[in-house]
Amino acid sequence: MRIFVTGGAGYIGSVVVERLLDKGHEVVVYDNLSKGHRESVDAPATLIVGDLADRESLQRAIDAQRTEAVIHLAASSIVGESITSPHAYFQNNIVNGLNLLEVMREAGVKRLVFSSTAAVYGVPASIPITEESTLAPTNPYGESKLAFERLLRWYDEAYQLRYVSLRYFNAAGATARHGEAHDPETHLIPNVLKVARGEAKEVMIFGEDYDTPDGTCIRDYIHVGDLADAHLLALGAMEKSSQIYNLGYGSGYSVAEVVEMSRQVTGRWIPTESAPRRAGDPPVLIASSDRIMRDLGWRPRMSELDQIIESAWKWTNKQA
Ligand code: UFG
Repeated sequence: MRIFVTGGAGYIGSVVVERLLDKGHEVVVYDNLSKGHRESVDAPATLIVGDLADRESLQRAIDAQRTEAVIHLAASSIVGESITSPHAYFQNNIVNGLNLLEVMREAGVKRLVFSSTAAVYGVPASIPITEESTLAPTNPYGESKLAFERLLRWYDEAYQLRYVSLRYFNAAGATARHGEAHDPETHLIPNVLKVARGEAKEVMIFGEDYDTPDGTCIRDYIHVGDLADAHLLALGAMEKSSQIYNLGYGSGYSVAEVVEMSRQVTGRWIPTESAPRRAGDPPVLIASSDRIMRDLGWRPRMSELDQIIESAWKWTNKQA
């Protein structure tokens, strides 16, 4: 299939592209390189440097490629930043996203896989979180992703745009070729590994007074390769109807457990420092992914935390 990947030079996007190429798809990446890296786009995928805000450039790119399906990952995605700059999040994730939908409509492209997030649920009333759980985002990032999902529903109804929305929990780990390199880095595992490498002094633990067994936040870490595989399954599954799926492993680890496991994997002492809670962090986020397993036959291959950390550690050391 000829697939157009927005945000394909980013962390998750580069792994999605890797998997698409492995399966023989033709891939065009559309990315403004604000967060992504040119060298993260594997050959023979074509990289077009462009912004979703630039409708003409988007149109040219989608037409030239004779696009059959779009995987839409390009977005602003840092929870804390969204709280201080909501406008940027609504602009990029909703308004610019709407440009993409309009260009797809004009070009007659009717299939979309959307990169959504667990942040649409806010602080869940019960665990695990299913797709039927209450939608109550606690930050503009989650709000913007939920708004886009709602737009999609009406594009489906009116224009038969079929979509699969994938609500990612905590993407982590690396493949042999691609891993996580944000600047600044806000995510837990890369920050822990920076300390293990001696590139930072200590890991800040944001809150140790949550209502969890050890007081630190619990997250459902999902290997980026398993996450990417779900996009390929989604592409083949939306002919009949649109769908929304959670993507996690159904098990969670606390911040303290991630640090401890990282000490074991790296064999390094990793100093920590207590810090205040970070705004907008729910105490526990664990997915039920039963629906995607049942409907699409998605099966995780890297679900152990030590495997995830080890893959990230190997990749990080290769970059140095
Ligand atoms: N944390 C620390 N120290 C750090 C970094 C993070 O203690 O240096 C803590 C956070 O407070 C949180 C946990 O580690 O409790 C995980 O934080 P991340 O920043 O790695 O991930 P988030 O859970 O904040 O966010 C990620 C994605 C979001 C998505 C969310 C859904 O970045 O886009 O998962 O679960 F919405």
